[in-house]
Amino acid sequence: MDYRKLGRTGLKVSPLCMGTMQFGWSLNEADSHRVLSATFEAGINFFDTADIYSRWVEGNPGGVSETFIGNWMKQAKIPRDQIVLATKVRGTMGKGANDHGLSRVHIVNAVEASLRRLQTDYIDLYQAHWTDDDTPIEETLRAFDDLVQQGKARYVGASNYSAWELMQALWVSDKYNLVRFDSLQPHYNLIHRDEFERELRAVCKTYQIAVIPYSPLAGGFLTGKYRKNAPLPASQRAEGRKRDMTEKNLALIADMEIVARRHNATVSQIALAWMLADPVITSPIIGATSIEQLNENLGALRINLGQGEVDSLNNMTAWKIDEDE
Ligand SMILES: NC(=O)c1ccc[n+]([C@@H]2O[C@H](COP(=O)([O-])OP(=O)(O)OC[C@H]3O[C@@H](n4cnc5c(N)ncnc54)[C@H](OP(=O)(O)O)[C@@H]3O)[C@@H](O)[C@H]2O)c1
Repeated sequence: MDYRKLGRTGLKVSPLCMGTMQFGWSLNEADSHRVLSATFEAGINFFDTADIYSRWVEGNPGGVSETFIGNWMKQAKIPRDQIVLATKVRGTMGKGANDHGLSRVHIVNAVEASLRRLQTDYIDLYQAHWTDDDTPIEETLRAFDDLVQQGKARYVGASNYSAWELMQALWVSDKYNLVRFDSLQPHYNLIHRDEFERELRAVCKTYQIAVIPYSPLAGGFLTGKYRKNAPLPASQRAEGRKRDMTEKNLALIADMEIVARRHNATVSQIALAWMLADPVITSPIIGATSIEQLNENLGALRINLGQGEVDSLNNMTAWKIDEDE
C-alpha cells in the first residue's frame, strides 16, 4: 500500500479512506464489522465517521456509526495505533440549545461523547463537519487547540468550508498560534467538480492541506449501475440518484465504460482512478455496502489512467464556461 502524508503533517494514511456513513442506515452492525475487517485486512488504515451518522434514519439517535466502529475495534482486537480514526462535530445531537454547532461548549461535550462511543481515548483527525456562523472561528480553533494539547485529538480538519472560510481559519490559527486545519473534506467527484476546483483546490495546494474528498462515486451513480429505462438499483440512496441521471451524465458513463474496458476495469474503478491521478488529492473517502463493492473499489489502486484519458474525462465534465460561447 502506498501510504501518503496527510498534507504537511507526518501522519501516513492509505490512498483510500473508508467512509462509514452507511452504517446503521444501509448496513447492520454485523455486516458493518465484516466490511471494516475486510478493509483493514486489505491495508486501508484510514476510517472516516461523524457523530451524526446516521441520525437521519427514523428512530436512530446518531452516534451509531461511531458505536459500530468502537465495538468492532474491541471485538476484532484491532491495535488502536494501527488505524487513523477521523470523526466530525457540528451536527445536531440532541434537543438542547447547545447540542449542535462549533461553540467551545458543544465541541468539549461532543468530543467526550465520540470518545465514549469509539471506546478510545483519542481521535486522530477531528473535523468541523461544516461551518457555524453563530460561533467566531477563533473560539472554535481555541477549543480544537485545547483538545490537541490534552491529547484527545491529534490533528484537526474542516469539511464543507468555502475557500474564504478556510483561508480565514488558516489566518486565525496563524495569528493566534493555534492548531490549524490540516485537511479538507470536500464534496468532489466527476459530476460535481466546480465546488472544489473553483478556488478550494488552489488553497489546499498552496497551504499543503490534505484533500480527502467525499462521495467520489456520487453516492453510487458513478458505478454505472443507474441505467436509462431500467429499474433503479436496490439502494437506500436510489431515489436521490435520480437527479444525477441526466443525458450528459449518462453519456459520461458510456464513455467511462469504454475506458474501463481498455483497462479491464469497471466504471467505479475509473471514477476513483481519475481522482487518484490528481496529486492534490490525498485519499478519497469511499463507501461500500458489501465486501464485493469494497474489493471492486480497492481495485482502482492498480489502475493508472493515461494523461489522454484524464484529459478526455475532464473535457466531458468541464464546468468552466467556454469563453468563445
Ligand atoms: N463531510 C460530509 O459532509 C460528508 C458527506 C457525505 C459523505 N461523507 C463521507 O464520505 C463517505 C463516502 O461518501 P459516499 O457514501 O457518498 O461515497 P460514494 O463512494 O460516492 O458512494 C458510496 C455508495 O455507492 C455504492 N457503491 C459503492 N461502491 C460500489 C460499487 N463498487 N458498485 C456498486 N455500488 C457501489 C454504495 O451504496 P449502495 O450499495 O446503497 O448503492 C455505497 O454506499 C461517507 O461514508 C462519509 O464518511 C462526508
